[in-house]
Amino acid sequence: MIGRLNHVAIVVPDLEAAASLYRNTLGATVSEPLPLPDQGVTTVFVDLPNSKIELLHPLGDDSPVAAFLERNPRGAMHHICYEVQDIHAAIEHMRTEGATVLGDGKPSIGAHNLPVVFLHPKDFCGTLIELEEVAS
Ligand code: CO
Repeated sequence: MIGRLNHVAIVVPDLEAAASLYRNTLGATVSEPLPLPDQGVTTVFVDLPNSKIELLHPLGDDSPVAAFLERNPRGAMHHICYEVQDIHAAIEHMRTEGATVLGDGKPSIGAHNLPVVFLHPKDFCGTLIELEEVAS
């Protein structure tokens, strides 16, 4: 069911330092910081030939990554995102398989303006998983 790895997201304590690390030390193509107030994060996209890395930093008072950063003050991998063709079929399949879809179980609009859902890490080897619907 899942397709390509869309991105790996890393929560970082200092977005500028992390962007510089990827741009200069690792020599990657790195975007300018993009504030996403609706999602409570500022993100920097790192473009790789076969995928993306998203550097995330809390934005606003009730950011979904603020507590994560408190627990991981040096930063840490937050989630991985797989592409799916049909997010509603994917949600249905996850329910059938007994996996926990987070939130209200309905897709929301993610960082790329595409429908996404998150799956509980307890069901997936301790890894928070995002499914993103991409056009086929
Ligand atoms: Co993501």
